[in-house]
Amino acid sequence: MRNDVLSATGIDCSYGPVQVLFGVDLRVGPGELVGLCGPNGVGKSTLLRVLSGLHRPTAGRVELFGADVTGVSAVRRVRLGLATVVGQAAFGSLSVLDNLRLHGYALRPAQAHAGVDAALAVFPRLAQRAHQPAATLSGGERQMLVLAKALIQRPRLLLVDELSLGLAPIVVGGLLEMLRRLNATGMSVLVVEQSVNVALSLVDRICFMERGAIAAEHRPQDLAARPELVRSLMLGGHA
Ligand SMILES: Nc1ncnc2c1ncn2[C@@H]1O[C@H](COP(=O)(O)OP(=O)(O)O)[C@@H](O)[C@H]1O
Ligand SMILES: [Mg+2]
Repeated sequence: MRNDVLSATGIDCSYGPVQVLFGVDLRVGPGELVGLCGPNGVGKSTLLRVLSGLHRPTAGRVELFGADVTGVSAVRRVRLGLATVVGQAAFGSLSVLDNLRLHGYALRPAQAHAGVDAALAVFPRLAQRAHQPAATLSGGERQMLVLAKALIQRPRLLLVDELSLGLAPIVVGGLLEMLRRLNATGMSVLVVEQSVNVALSLVDRICFMERGAIAAEHRPQDLAARPELVRSLMLGGHA
């Protein structure tokens, strides 16, 4: 569709001689919150790297906001309005504020400044800890910092890889609420989640990967009464 914020078609991708993605098709519409689930090692993170421009596919096409970006660098994609959240990386010895400022490097100074203010407004907990070294944050606060960094760019599309990994359920709940609020402001979101229950509670639509391709796509309400289907989709090989 012409007005998709993200459209990937026929994506093949390899690490050296080993092919891990096989003709992946995936789209995210304006304002949509889409989940991507599937067994470990199926290629979810690799797909996000292809979408963000960090890994070049051997075949296929990636479009962002209606433009072909297949050969476009990761930095250019950021400037187009794409942000990617992966892991919990932060510079531990730097303050929360300096971590945020550092992340505005690709932006003009005034833009970066406004972006930092906007990100801290979304996360008052971080604002309180602005001058504290990032290493002293709790797991959940560190994840907030990772999200806040992405928000500095004021993205139109946010890609999130395993936000809930290693966090207590209560912390995950708070972060999901943040994602929901960002989505409610019109930001489109694609979230990779290893917990299918987390994904189902959050998304408009959920895609399941199997053997390096999208195997199924459902709306959460259609899966509510079908735990055996969800289980087989998460184990792979039975879809
Ligand atoms: N940097 C890499 N070099 C070689 N193989 C990799 C690399 N990263 C991932 N892989 C392999 O690619 C496959 C898909 O990995 P990944 O995309 O991380 O899956 P997922 O995120 O779904 O767990 C796995 O078999 C993994 O071992
Ligand atoms: Mg992964």
